Amino acid sequence: MKLNQYIYNVNYQDYEEDLCALEIRSLFNCQLEGKVFFSSKEFDPSISPFLKTRLEIIYKTSTFSEIIELIKKDKVTAQDFVVKYLELFSGDPYNKKRRELCKEIGLIVQGFPSFTSPKTTFGISFYKGSWYFGILVANNSKWKAHNTKPYSYSSSIGINIAKVLLNIAGNGNFSKRLVDPCCGVGTVLLEGFFAGYDIKGWEIVSKVAENARLNLLHFNYLPKVTTGDIKDISESFDASIIDLPYGIYCHTTEDDQVKIIKNAKRISKKLVLVSSEDITYDILREKLKITDCCKISKNKNGSFFRHIWVCE
Ligand SMILES: C[S@@+](CC[C@H](N)C(=O)[O-])C[C@H]1O[C@@H](n2cnc3c(N)ncnc32)[C@H](O)[C@@H]1O
Repeated sequence: MKLNQYIYNVNYQDYEEDLCALEIRSLFNCQLEGKVFFSSKEFDPSISPFLKTRLEIIYKTSTFSEIIELIKKDKVTAQDFVVKYLELFSGDPYNKKRRELCKEIGLIVQGFPSFTSPKTTFGISFYKGSWYFGILVANNSKWKAHNTKPYSYSSSIGINIAKVLLNIAGNGNFSKRLVDPCCGVGTVLLEGFFAGYDIKGWEIVSKVAENARLNLLHFNYLPKVTTGDIKDISESFDASIIDLPYGIYCHTTEDDQVKIIKNAKRISKKLVLVSSEDITYDILREKLKITDCCKISKNKNGSFFRHIWVCE
């Protein structure tokens, strides 16, 4: 019997804690307290830079031997399986015995184990006085390959932020139509396609738009990028993600930024805005409601900040 309950655990650098908390609020509608939480929502951890694992709970008991009895009673069966111990807190006393615990379970699950290419990974864990057994899914980290995209430029955002922006915009609902109307070389688009979001990009500079297409093609994604100005977009979207142009490469004035915000409001119900400057005044002047926000440091030194606003 499935309990439809999952245990997630997250990991982040200290300077990314607020970014992680914003993502968890957007995906799970809950506040992040510590690095472990329970949810009935099912997401692939790989859509996030911070979710490490998801354990789908099959059994929750007070003792390990009760888990063993339940596996026997229900004749739990799997082909090509492996059993892994999931350490959810540092100092977990059972982590030292993880090999014996996993072996004991492995011997009673019916079917053949496979340590090299398992089709099912069972997880066993001890957390806050209870034992949990279930199906374990880990973040596959394949998206990190996007760091080697052929075209990048100094103002490209990092892929951790890009992934979070998508989850804020789409709330994990892959049927939502998303747009990055100032997509640069396509950092957000790459993560969007990887996660399975329905997303399109626009970029005003034709060479940059071409580089975004080449980046997408490099990873076998459809190059859904139009060369053009946000003001000419006639489609409507559920949400737009805008890393506002700034700096010496973009030659953008405050007036240009305001026009971009106005147009984003015209084409989308929800806006996720990113800027290195505080543009709260401009957002409110456009009569947008700020529903969430955070200020994140770009690096450990805290020498460069980005603000994220979620607006409707
Ligand atoms: C900060 S960069 C985006 C970088 C992008 N997130 C990435 O990682 O590659 C902003 C981009 O907006 C583009 N841009 C500026 N004004 C625009 C407009 N009116 N319509 C569409 N794109 C615009 C710029 O050419 C620039 O590539």
